[in-house]
Amino acid sequence: MVDVDRFVDEAIAGIADEVGDASAVIALSGGVDSSTAATLAHEAIGDRLTPVYVDTGLMRKGETAAVRETFAYMEGLRVVDARERFLDALAGVIDPEEKRHVIGEQFIREFETVAREVDAEYLVQGTIYPDRIESEGTIKSHHNVGGLPEVVDFEGIVEPMADLYKDEVREVARELGLEEVVSERMPFPGPGLAVRVLGEVTEEKLAVAREANHVVEEELEAYEPWQALAAVLGKATGVKGDNRVHGWVVSVRAVESRDGMTARAMEVDWETLQRIQSRITGSLDDVSRVVYDVTHKPPATIEYE
Ligand code: XMP
Repeated sequence: MVDVDRFVDEAIAGIADEVGDASAVIALSGGVDSSTAATLAHEAIGDRLTPVYVDTGLMRKGETAAVRETFAYMEGLRVVDARERFLDALAGVIDPEEKRHVIGEQFIREFETVAREVDAEYLVQGTIYPDRIESEGTIKSHHNVGGLPEVVDFEGIVEPMADLYKDEVREVARELGLEEVVSERMPFPGPGLAVRVLGEVTEEKLAVAREANHVVEEELEAYEPWQALAAVLGKATGVKGDNRVHGWVVSVRAVESRDGMTARAMEVDWETLQRIQSRITGSLDDVSRVVYDVTHKPPATIEYE
């Protein structure tokens, strides 16, 4: 475990040094990594930092409002409504790796646009160690690392937490006084709900995934999982009222893990699973089935794509 006090001092000095007299934008997502990176960068360069939250349409339910609230204290927070651009860029894309690259590229283009407007030369990102490791290997490209386009219109990309594991980031977040809802928050992938809907990303699947993830997070919070999530797998037959329907199959997943590199599927009691099932099929007309994923990582991954 890193010496947190020392890490914070050195990270702030490092950012100040790297950015110099220039300005930077920080990519906020609402998660613990980017929130911690934003706080460090704000300490380092003050109002020369422009926090940017890109509303991709792939985020958790209520995320945009939550980010506005958490970062209201930082001057100049930009919220970019990029929902249509992301959906357009993802139209027809079904390969998981291609999805990550399309999303990574679109993110960068959004940040470049804001950076030009505010004259910022640097991009600060909350990349952490496992993101880099998994991108370097054959596992997949994380959108904020391997998914980056080759040509990026920034003087430099600053990643103050690139050597930290998640539990270390949480310690740093606590040290910096971030609210518990942020420091203890479940990880959420950069490409968002796009890796929780199999195949092409459509507004219809996203709406199902957004609500189902909300239900699952709420119902499984008490288990304190590393992550609890829902994914839209495909369609299957069901009966609703008097009608046969061809509805979505939603998979529920909850895992325990220390660093996300390996994980164990959690045992969840039947009553809770049934409550999740009835909330999801009850509130979403076009869902016909809910299944529970019992697979560890390996052989599965935590996310579905
Ligand atoms: P997997 O699915 O590979 O995920 O078992 C391991 C951990 O990483 C998160 N994850 C991501 N985080 N960009 C991110 O910032 C990504 O592209 C990405 N893909 C997966 C995942 O939620 C889990 O915590």
